[in-house]
Amino acid sequence: MLLLAARMSRAKPSAIMAVADKARKLKAEGRDIISFSIGVPNFLPGEHVYAAVRDALTKDSGSYGSNRGSDALLDAFLKHLEDAGLGGYTRKNVATGIGAKHVLYNLAGVLLDPGDTIAFTVPYWASYMDIADIVDAKVRLLPCPASQNYKLTPAQLDGALAGVKVFLFNNPSNPTGMVYSKDEIAALADVLVKHPDVWIICDDIYNRMIFDGVGYHNFVQARPELRARVIQVDSLSKTYGMPGWRVGFMCGPESVAQAIVTLNSNHITNLPEVVTAAAVAALSGPQDITKQKCAEFQAKRDQVIATMRSIPGVVCPCPQGAFYVFPDISCAFGKSHAGRKINNDIDFCAVLLEAKGVACVPGSAFGDPKALRISYTCPTAQLAEGLKRFREFFAELA
Ligand SMILES: Cc1ncc(COP(=O)(O)O)c(C=O)c1O
Repeated sequence: MLLLAARMSRAKPSAIMAVADKARKLKAEGRDIISFSIGVPNFLPGEHVYAAVRDALTKDSGSYGSNRGSDALLDAFLKHLEDAGLGGYTRKNVATGIGAKHVLYNLAGVLLDPGDTIAFTVPYWASYMDIADIVDAKVRLLPCPASQNYKLTPAQLDGALAGVKVFLFNNPSNPTGMVYSKDEIAALADVLVKHPDVWIICDDIYNRMIFDGVGYHNFVQARPELRARVIQVDSLSKTYGMPGWRVGFMCGPESVAQAIVTLNSNHITNLPEVVTAAAVAALSGPQDITKQKCAEFQAKRDQVIATMRSIPGVVCPCPQGAFYVFPDISCAFGKSHAGRKINNDIDFCAVLLEAKGVACVPGSAFGDPKALRISYTCPTAQLAEGLKRFREFFAELA
């Protein structure tokens, strides 16, 4: 009998994509569907990005490129890091990949042997678990429920790191949108200094999508000695409205960046030339679209939070970044909608989609089955209509 590798029995298709597919299918059948499901920024990059692509097409080298990334792209990313308060790195500290997801997958391969332990908070971005499963790592989950604002405390981190090889941190968070303040980052950094054998991956791809003047803060700024084992992950997907262009980055110790380059040399080889041109233009060109979208997302966040707070029983910490809200909707469990029983988050999302045409992702995809994720980047009118239906749905529960 022909068998697939054992790791494929651990690999699962993305739960988020499954919801998005169902919403697409219902839409194709003519249903009026409002999708709060997939985490897309819902805007396009500026004209300067397309102009750079057109220009690159006239200069195609017709060749392979650098396994690390072109010098122009590495330099543009280094400048982007510097603007975020992370100066002092060189080209040898950085490497690129086909999106942050690919970079994270590569990092798992670089840092984790089978049986090694990776720790991250719950709720987590769904792919963390899937990537850990594929590389056969053990996972240590650090529960951060709504009652603690979905945030990790220093004491919790301190108590969880024994035997851990990699601590994976995500700020701002997908799915909760929570952002750590300067003081909170400093307190966690103090704990990390006490655990010198732990690699630290900071998946900070939403670092330009932060509201309320909280600002973006990171462990390296707080405790510079952590630079030797912190790996920053970034991406163009959310910041520049370029999820399909597939450009991700890492920055960290030279040995880690070099290992990513070695992996790249054995699978992707290089980012395509036109994509590189687009990426350089996005990073180096005007940043006004990103700033404008961040302000829009903050206003939409307010709209969603106002709705969540108006529904009795729903608990919803107020996020300060990204474009997600993660309400605890467990007050609905045990109730019914038009005769359909809701026992858990998966039932809730399925019945909501069928009854009201609103697609959300069940919290269990992120390890928290009491909640669901709303991705709120759709046009304002659609958002208002979707929130109205969400409120109606709750009012109709019996
Ligand atoms: C927290 C987080 N990390 C990484 C990624 C992957 O981003 P990319 O599109 O660059 O692969 C996502 C995408 O949703 C994300 O939310």
